[in-house]
Amino acid sequence: MSSVVVNKCEEFSLEISSIAPDKSISHRSAMFSMLACGTSEIRNFLRAEDTLNSLEIVRNLGATIEDDGEVIKITSDGIKESFEILDCGNSGTGMRLFCGFLSSANGHFVLTGDKYLRSRPMKRVTTPLRDIGAKLDGRADGDFAPLSIRGASLKAFNYNSKIASAQVKSCMILAALRADGVCTYTEPEKSRDHTERMLKGMGADIQVEGLKTTIAPMKELLSPLIIRVPADPSSAFFFAVAAAITPHAKITLQGVTLNETRIEAFKALERMGADITYEMTDDKYEPIGDITVKHAPLKAITVDDNISWLIDELPALSIAFACAEGVSVVKNAEELRVKESDRISTVVEGLSACGIETTEYEDGYTVTGGTLNSATVDSDGDHRIAMSFIIAGLRCGMEVTDLDCINTSFPNFFELLQKITKVEFN
Ligand code: S3P
Repeated sequence: MSSVVVNKCEEFSLEISSIAPDKSISHRSAMFSMLACGTSEIRNFLRAEDTLNSLEIVRNLGATIEDDGEVIKITSDGIKESFEILDCGNSGTGMRLFCGFLSSANGHFVLTGDKYLRSRPMKRVTTPLRDIGAKLDGRADGDFAPLSIRGASLKAFNYNSKIASAQVKSCMILAALRADGVCTYTEPEKSRDHTERMLKGMGADIQVEGLKTTIAPMKELLSPLIIRVPADPSSAFFFAVAAAITPHAKITLQGVTLNETRIEAFKALERMGADITYEMTDDKYEPIGDITVKHAPLKAITVDDNISWLIDELPALSIAFACAEGVSVVKNAEELRVKESDRISTVVEGLSACGIETTEYEDGYTVTGGTLNSATVDSDGDHRIAMSFIIAGLRCGMEVTDLDCINTSFPNFFELLQKITKVEFN
């Protein structure tokens, strides 16, 4: 499947209970199970390329995995040297978290990924890890994969990160669990906190005070992780935008994590005028519930803080900007340039192709709301760009090319989309 033509849709009213399970939590579930004594049980694991790669890495590191299609049971008696090169595919989360996870493990490990991941910066994790004694290397002095890791003893640290990144934070928390003393990690802005929540839930000694996380080394193995992965708000958001931009549309997205670090894009859409309600139904490692979005006329907004809380949703939010009245502004978002694609360029180029006025800056862009025109947009191998422009097509019709990337995070995306509109694959 290399391209799709999406047709303009009519009003719809839908409840969706099968949004893809959360990618961040699925990666972590597979990996953290190896820190437990006993068998972890993961329900609703995301069976998409990125997270299945993490599961395969865990298997290659010696864990026993039983999978009956419903529950994935993971048992480990310690990290073993792998005969295989560990392939993270397209996933920055997989690669950066495994760097911290393996830095203190006994043995030698090689991490690689697809051509996109091998072009993404890794010094943000290899530098702080090397500073505490880790032995890592890679192309460009450790900035690009393939990366090799020789497990070593790690020194305790107090690290002040300049980047608000949950990947960097999680990498360093995983390293801290095996360091030779209590460690602190301070971030400039709070990033998503699944690592802290899940490891604490498993019994790790982790304290969070504002932007500072204090981690005591593990004295013993943790309790098994027993988790049902909630739906991914970043995936749900494509359908939230679909409802917000379609006159008279309404959608309820069920079983989504309502973690405040993950639903900022829904709050931004609310600020634009969309009618959104949240109903909490569960609260274990994460608050979980249903989000209902109803169309209303949209107005432009500025997004310039808490960027890490909506970093993955900015491409889809930009489609809402294009349908709003006025000029929307995104600032302080330079991190967008080092995602699965340079998302400042891919969003601006895609919207321009659809006849929308944009301005590009180093750390952001503006979008002047107007009329979206049908166009052909290439995803540049980035799943979130592909899905965002497919959603734009609900307004005007659209051809989107290079679609295989959607399988990295949302394999049933088209199945759900076909409840709203007609699509033709080429
Ligand atoms: C993720 C963190 C974010 C996000 C990515 C998943 C995670 O990256 O963009 O899709 O699971 O930790 P950064 O933490 O680098 O911003």
